[in-house]
Amino acid sequence: MMSVSLITKNVLLGIGGGIAAYKSADLVRRLKERGFDVRVVMSQSAMEFITPLTLQALSGHPVSSSLLDPAAEAAMGHIELARWADLVIIAPATANLLARINAGMADELITTTCLATEAPIALCPAMNQQMYRNLATQANLASLQSRGYTLWGPASGSQACGEVGPGRMLEPLEIAELASRFFATKDVYAEQESQPLAGQSVLITAGPTREAIDPVRYISNHSSGKMGFALAKAAADMGAAVTLVAGPVNLATPEGVTRIDVESAQNMLDAVMDNVDKKDIFIGCAAVADYRVNDIAACKIKKSAEEMQLALVRNPDILATVASLANRPFVVGFAAETHDVETYARDKLKRKNLNMIAANDVSVAGQGFNADANALRVFWPQGSQDLPATDKLTLARQLLSLIVKEKTK
Ligand code: C5P
Repeated sequence: MMSVSLITKNVLLGIGGGIAAYKSADLVRRLKERGFDVRVVMSQSAMEFITPLTLQALSGHPVSSSLLDPAAEAAMGHIELARWADLVIIAPATANLLARINAGMADELITTTCLATEAPIALCPAMNQQMYRNLATQANLASLQSRGYTLWGPASGSQACGEVGPGRMLEPLEIAELASRFFATKDVYAEQESQPLAGQSVLITAGPTREAIDPVRYISNHSSGKMGFALAKAAADMGAAVTLVAGPVNLATPEGVTRIDVESAQNMLDAVMDNVDKKDIFIGCAAVADYRVNDIAACKIKKSAEEMQLALVRNPDILATVASLANRPFVVGFAAETHDVETYARDKLKRKNLNMIAANDVSVAGQGFNADANALRVFWPQGSQDLPATDKLTLARQLLSLIVKEKTK
């Protein structure tokens, strides 16, 4: 089979009207250096900052800027451009452009292309730090990310307007590097057979656990189960026999997946231990409560005293228990961290004796708990791979591809 990476990838660069547009010429060069075929679309205001002629000379293709240009539409119309792209990069993505893309507008060529393309879209924000921090911009970015748009940057530092803060566009070299890495990660999946998990059995935990206090109350957390369910669907699509042990969540069972519903951490451990025998891969994606109530009240606790205390005891660690089995599967854990992600994740990898750990930074808005999008940093004893922000199903496929690759090494 021909390696996918040998096929030239098409990158469509959308240039918005911000001062960082002057860096776009260099970005085209950096992308071309990496072997990408690059076509450029510009907003009307981008042409106030940089001329189409410069970008045409560097990309080797005519530059499109208008939806209503008969000559450009005859050469390569906006729908053809949208179909041509393997990846769309919007750089600079100004606050105005982000707002219009988020609103689903088709008022000019860049926004229309974003609506018309099936290719992944990476946004490289560039704006004044106050405009970036503004809640309207943050809401637009969170909403775009939840729909699967990828965010590259912004960086923080001194700005063209003289202020200092977040909002600087990433340097062209960094953006080109992210584009290369994006295709490298995609190729890991594409290069494998369509059913790389055929004949394999996978056990996955997902969602929160519920620790009863009395017959009507419990302790739990905000886990939605979306990542674990996406993993179950992706693994089934890749040919695996999948058993999904799910805490209380409001999600439909993916087709072909055997689901076991549980409530508490102890229930989850029991279901896992009943099903782990002969499994090839175990993925602990559940947000298991670390503690449970020591003495669950048989009747509803009545409010009488001004204060009350609950005595809690540690729950068993399901992941570590599976990893300690004599005939263990390939064991993958998750780690939700707010800082020092690599240090904590690597520590967990070692301490729990895992084969791999997928860490996410839950301090980033729009990612992780309850969100539709996520980004993962995956670590294993001899390596690591960043999986940039995208929808959870795409991430699940990428993570499973990494698991297949590492497991068969
Ligand atoms: O130690 P921490 O809770 O951060 O570890 C997270 C990982 O461990 C996740 O993969 C989670 O599913 C798993 N875990 C578990 N049982 C517990 C606690 C965490 O399986 N009691």
